[in-house]
Amino acid sequence: MPKQTIRDLELSGHRVLVRVDFNVPQTKDGAVSDDRRIRAALPTLNYALEHGASLVLVSHLGRPTGDPEADKPFRMDPVAARLAELIGRPVRKANDTVGPDAQAACAALLPGGIVMLENVRFNKGEKKNDPAFAKQLAVLADTYVNDAFGTSHRDEASMVAVPECYGPDRRAIGFLVEKELKILETLLGSPKPPMVAVMGGAKVSDKILLIKNLLPKVEKLLIGGAMTYTFLKAQGHSTGNSRVENDRLTEAKELLELAGPKLVLPPDHLVGSSLGPDAETKVVTGPDIPEGWIGFDIGPAAAVAYGEVIKTAGTVVWNGPMGKFEDAPYRKGTESVAHAMAASSAVTVVGGGETAEAVEQFGVADKMSHVSTGGGAFLESLEGKTFNSLKVIPDR
Ligand code: 3PG
Repeated sequence: MPKQTIRDLELSGHRVLVRVDFNVPQTKDGAVSDDRRIRAALPTLNYALEHGASLVLVSHLGRPTGDPEADKPFRMDPVAARLAELIGRPVRKANDTVGPDAQAACAALLPGGIVMLENVRFNKGEKKNDPAFAKQLAVLADTYVNDAFGTSHRDEASMVAVPECYGPDRRAIGFLVEKELKILETLLGSPKPPMVAVMGGAKVSDKILLIKNLLPKVEKLLIGGAMTYTFLKAQGHSTGNSRVENDRLTEAKELLELAGPKLVLPPDHLVGSSLGPDAETKVVTGPDIPEGWIGFDIGPAAAVAYGEVIKTAGTVVWNGPMGKFEDAPYRKGTESVAHAMAASSAVTVVGGGETAEAVEQFGVADKMSHVSTGGGAFLESLEGKTFNSLKVIPDR
């Protein structure tokens, strides 16, 4: 059932608490290094402002420890500054989340005004989904909008207990969450056939549920990343010094049996002699990684073969890089999948932090049908999980 959206709410004169996911990558000195998540929330924020609302924005940033000194880089100031630039309006950054500064800033809000609260995870009640803390947050506004798709898998106060403080006609999702849910519904419900999943990343263990949920829907499951070597070892091949999850070999074997010919392992590999930047590299054909070598990327033949499968797909969903793409020698596999998807006429959906970063880096993000702002939330949605943060928003 579609959820009530911000379009369904009376907004004029209302103070709207928007839970956004501004958990953005930062440089070492704390500046915002990728503002994609901030830009993705702009349609909702602008819509509310244009309809006469004022905004109280709530987000987490990073994983604060509770030590105020160590947590300084997690303050929301640089995020508020970047939002002000992007939205072209002043953003009043409060120095606390529910304390006197936040209360005063929210009380002074006029239509068109924006307050950004301090990092919601600086409060212990947030992770605990604490109703008392939720109440303190909820009194700062009279309406709640969830536009934090990237956090929707978390049972935290600002995602679950806070919306429960509002009447059913005062809670909704924003445009970003609406868009992400529509794409997921299509992927899991009626994708344009044939559907192909491209799956990378380090660990088979992270992808077991995902692979099981997607298998009945896909024609092919193209595997890359270090999880390749766990699958190869499970098949009895040598994997040299490649990263292998030795405690997951039985599960890997079961997945291989379950998937049969749908699961495609790379026919060749780019291997390196060591982890360091001066490593010698070479291409190895076949399923065995030689003794002493480490698999770091899919090989050129795999890149071509995967490109051919992507070309004929109706829908492609991609999660997880094909190799250690952050290091120049091992970027080609991930880059080739990004370009193959960009060139294809299929519905192309990319999700997961690193994968989204890769398509940005290779300059093809705009060529995808959709790049999800979710990491764990995207993955868990594809696993078929449902989230409490969305259950508390009424259906339309
Ligand atoms: C994310 O980046 O995946 C979300 O912002 C959730 O962050 P978390 O994994 O720290 O809960």
